[in-house]
Amino acid sequence: MLVWNRSGIYVDGTIGGGGHARAILDRLDESGRLIGMDRDHEAVSVSRARIAGDGTQRVKVMHREFTELESVLETEHIPRVDGVLLDLGVSSYQIDTPGRGFSFQAEGPLDMRMDKDKAFTAADIVNGSSRDEIERIIREYGEERQARSVANAIVRTRAKAPLASTARLADTIRSAVRRRWAVKSCARVFQALRIAVNQELEKLKMALDTMLPLLSHRGRFGVLSYHSLEDRMVKRTFETWASDCICPPGLPQCVCRHKRVATLLTKRPVVASREEVANNPRARSARFRMIERLPDAQLIN
Ligand SMILES: C[S@@+](CC[C@H](N)C(=O)[O-])C[C@H]1O[C@@H](n2cnc3c(N)ncnc32)[C@H](O)[C@@H]1O
Repeated sequence: MLVWNRSGIYVDGTIGGGGHARAILDRLDESGRLIGMDRDHEAVSVSRARIAGDGTQRVKVMHREFTELESVLETEHIPRVDGVLLDLGVSSYQIDTPGRGFSFQAEGPLDMRMDKDKAFTAADIVNGSSRDEIERIIREYGEERQARSVANAIVRTRAKAPLASTARLADTIRSAVRRRWAVKSCARVFQALRIAVNQELEKLKMALDTMLPLLSHRGRFGVLSYHSLEDRMVKRTFETWASDCICPPGLPQCVCRHKRVATLLTKRPVVASREEVANNPRARSARFRMIERLPDAQLIN
């Protein structure tokens, strides 16, 4: 569990609708504090309203990216925190709101921005990028085998008129893949575009690169991811932190002099129970990993 010190300071870097934040707050005593962050204005308003009763001294919810945690802590005069949670990706609210353009199952604008202050949308990618770039995004971020045919179909469709709606993109994808794969392909292509629009992997990498020094001794860092690209990054980083040697396999003796800086609290990823999946189908692909910073960790940076 993330909360090990009931009067500590915790961060929910992806507060969304405030469900995890609520659970964290319930485990804190009256001197514990929580900072909530989200890059979506609507998530910030909703979660602020939901946990408003807890008083401004105890909770602060900000419209910020989790990659800005270091500067947020500096402004708040907090040297280190006792725990950070990242629940990656999109919220059910974002997916279920057609006007946000995340879902191929509802008609909406081809938007997909988590932060509406940013200018770049999914329509910019499908209408403005080269065929090769669209194919790369779909293959890399969506792990879609038919990326080439989907990219070709997008280029053909946009030559008639720019793609502006989720429904027209979904039709275009369906026209490029076998009927039996259509739903999965739509899901993969929409996921790929969303990841690209919001630079999700770059943001996760930045967070992983900068997180450790922000944790107190024994501070915990937990990440919930929903697809293999994210989970792989988290797994590798956590394993490196928890390892005394990161030499390539096959060397006769260790030359890296790496010292572990954290303990892995989840040897295997924690996955959702059947009951959780029944209540929330999105939880099916969730993987949770957590580390604890070693009290005497010597950090390089
Ligand atoms: C899966 S939801 C979180 C749900 C939340 N744990 C709850 O209990 O309701 C992910 C949230 O993270 C936000 N998000 C994604 N990337 C972010 C980033 N780089 N910085 C801040 N928020 C981000 C999204 O806007 C979304 O609201």
